[in-house]
Amino acid sequence: MAPSVSEIATQVQEATNNVGKLNLQSAKQDNGPSYPLYYPYYDVNEKFPPTEIFEYSDPGARADPAKPHLLNADTKVHHISPFIGTEVSGVQISQLSEEGLDELALYAAERKVLIFRDQDFKDIGPDRQIEIAKRYGQIQRHPTSPNVKGYPEFHVVYRGAEHDRLKDIIRSDRINRTQWHSDISYEKQTPGTTFFFILDQPDVGGDTLFASQVEAYNRLSPAFQQRLEGLYAVHSAVEQAEISRRRGGPVRREPVESVHPLVRRHPVTGEKALYVNQGFTRNIVGYKFEESENLLKFLYDHIAKGADFQIRATYQPGTVIVWDNRVTVHSATGDFDTSIRRHAVRLTPQAEIPIPA
Ligand SMILES: [Fe+2]
Repeated sequence: MAPSVSEIATQVQEATNNVGKLNLQSAKQDNGPSYPLYYPYYDVNEKFPPTEIFEYSDPGARADPAKPHLLNADTKVHHISPFIGTEVSGVQISQLSEEGLDELALYAAERKVLIFRDQDFKDIGPDRQIEIAKRYGQIQRHPTSPNVKGYPEFHVVYRGAEHDRLKDIIRSDRINRTQWHSDISYEKQTPGTTFFFILDQPDVGGDTLFASQVEAYNRLSPAFQQRLEGLYAVHSAVEQAEISRRRGGPVRREPVESVHPLVRRHPVTGEKALYVNQGFTRNIVGYKFEESENLLKFLYDHIAKGADFQIRATYQPGTVIVWDNRVTVHSATGDFDTSIRRHAVRLTPQAEIPIPA
């Protein structure tokens, strides 16, 4: 005899309960983040004074161009694209000499993104991590992002069952989660050599996309390049602060806006790079609204569609990515299920005030 409607309803309910139990069970088996010290920390009452201008000299400028302390006989390098990205293994960032650390800045500027494998960097402790990163400039203390209790220098990226930051910053009706940007470009002294190390990662997914802003510039016609070179754009932290305020998060410093050249020159390599990004660039100085919108839209499309000057950086346990924020844009990929934890930390040293091309 066929089961009655109420019997079916009971079976469905039992099955649903079991699914719930299984989920709970897997949640119980989760021992939490591998590195709880770096768990995202928010104190809404934390306040920072305005950032002051500091003197900056790029460590890459004093590096030996041959990089003998970084690229020795044990170091293996694999270039991912002719324009951007090199995978490096056989060297520990934590063991580099002063010269080696200077060479790291130069190599990051030249290759735009360096992916270091099998690093012990995540295990050397916050004080040493900060000490290494500080060599590349004053570390920005982020006005709104989660940091580490007692260590406001860390910018924590965390996505998992209990905390999904991407949800906070990317509107829910987007078709995809791609958000090209250069970090904190609203600062007067924008970041240069930037460190990002992974603590927990999904087996598949959670990669970071990077694009070369040098090659994005090089692809333009000489006439168009010339036109862009006289222009400046406003980069703003206002929206980021508003989003944080709306969801009851911290605004540790009143948001700032800076005007930067549309094309900047790298102080060490001399390369010219586009310096606009969809995350923080708002308008072109002196242009009317539609003129500014159209030009920026063209540049954002050009950068986003340039798969032949982009890479996809993958993570394995121990991966540390060092990139130069002056000559790149990047985007997270929120393509993995939030039942899997992705936990990473960024240290963001600020470099020079952008030099117009
Ligand atoms: Fe970023």
